[in-house]
Amino acid sequence: MTFRRLTDLPVAGKRVFIRADLNVPQDDSGSITEETRIRASLPGIQYALKGGAAVMVTSHLGRPTEGKLEPGDSLAPIAKRLGELLGRPVRLVRDWVDGRFEVKPGEVVMLENCRVNKGEKKNDEGLARKMAALCDVYVNDAFGTAHRAEATTHGLAKFAPVACAGPLMAAELDALGKALGHPARPLVAIVAGAKVSTKLTILKSLAAKVDQLIVGGGIANTFMAAAGLPIGKSLAEPELAGEARAVIDIMKRRGADVPLPMDVVTANDLSALARANRVAAADVRPDDMILDIGPRTAQKLASLIENAGTVVWNGPVGVFEYEQFAGGTKAIAQAIAASKAFSIAGGGDTLAAIAKFGIADKISYISTGGGAFLEFLEGKKLPAVEILEQRAA
Ligand code: 3PG
Ligand code: MG
Repeated sequence: MTFRRLTDLPVAGKRVFIRADLNVPQDDSGSITEETRIRASLPGIQYALKGGAAVMVTSHLGRPTEGKLEPGDSLAPIAKRLGELLGRPVRLVRDWVDGRFEVKPGEVVMLENCRVNKGEKKNDEGLARKMAALCDVYVNDAFGTAHRAEATTHGLAKFAPVACAGPLMAAELDALGKALGHPARPLVAIVAGAKVSTKLTILKSLAAKVDQLIVGGGIANTFMAAAGLPIGKSLAEPELAGEARAVIDIMKRRGADVPLPMDVVTANDLSALARANRVAAADVRPDDMILDIGPRTAQKLASLIENAGTVVWNGPVGVFEYEQFAGGTKAIAQAIAASKAFSIAGGGDTLAAIAKFGIADKISYISTGGGAFLEFLEGKKLPAVEILEQRAA
């Protein structure tokens, strides 16, 4: 992948427009509940400021209706927090597309929620050209939004005088490229979560690359059903059993493997008080729900992870929010932490599990992308990256 990098460019006196992904979760009162993405955006902003640029930062927040800014859509709380982290106030500018605002070299302003601008989502050319006129250098540092072709992630990159990747975007692409491009083997991927259907293309694309494909959650249940194991009332998509078998076959032909659970943790209902039972995979009863992998399975998977060269992780293997179903995900997390493998993790639930088990500093790279991380794993070209490559060609 070849693209220009902000950190290779002189920016003194230039107007630098940074498209960040500051789409962070907030509680009902608007308070930020998780600020990884804000912190991850600091190096790009600081680089531009130190270099003497006039800095404009924008992001989307949520999925607002274009054309009207509702109070809950405002970047105000994010601008405030960014100011605290930078140690200087960050002025918030509304109605900024026509450029009727000022920003001086050495100053940073935040441009209000870019998804409120009409034409943003459709990647409108008129909007993109207007925004391009605001800057000398366009920086895309929004890896989390790289799978979207919108006016601030694509059109603007096309029309700005110079278009480059910010340090976060570059680090994400470098780390993911390293993990999947020329991985140290064995390459182990853990893909878990509720639905096979949404991750089917990822599973297929990984089946051609990885040495071990560890499935968990509803995905594992579907694979177990495909292998003829009883799964009771577990969450699964039995109509996709054929697809699951196809993934297993692709792997087998390559001498690779999809290890299925030998034992599982089940319950009759899913609640904090549910009574958990450990049973062999063959002994799941008709009214049971599988809610975690069992300890023997966890141990086996942990040893695969410990001996891996590279581990890619997306999705918890059990309902780790409840103590009695957290053992499998905890074992996986600890095995990744203990392994010498280059490890890379992404996705909202996965990051929550990493935080819960306190292993963030033992993962080689934690991606800020959810959907973008998954599409990269699928082997898809991310439109926001593709345009940066085209501009560098
Ligand atoms: C995310 O949170 O996944 C990114 O910020 C992209 O948001 P979107 O799914 O609303 O485009
Ligand atoms: Mg999303």
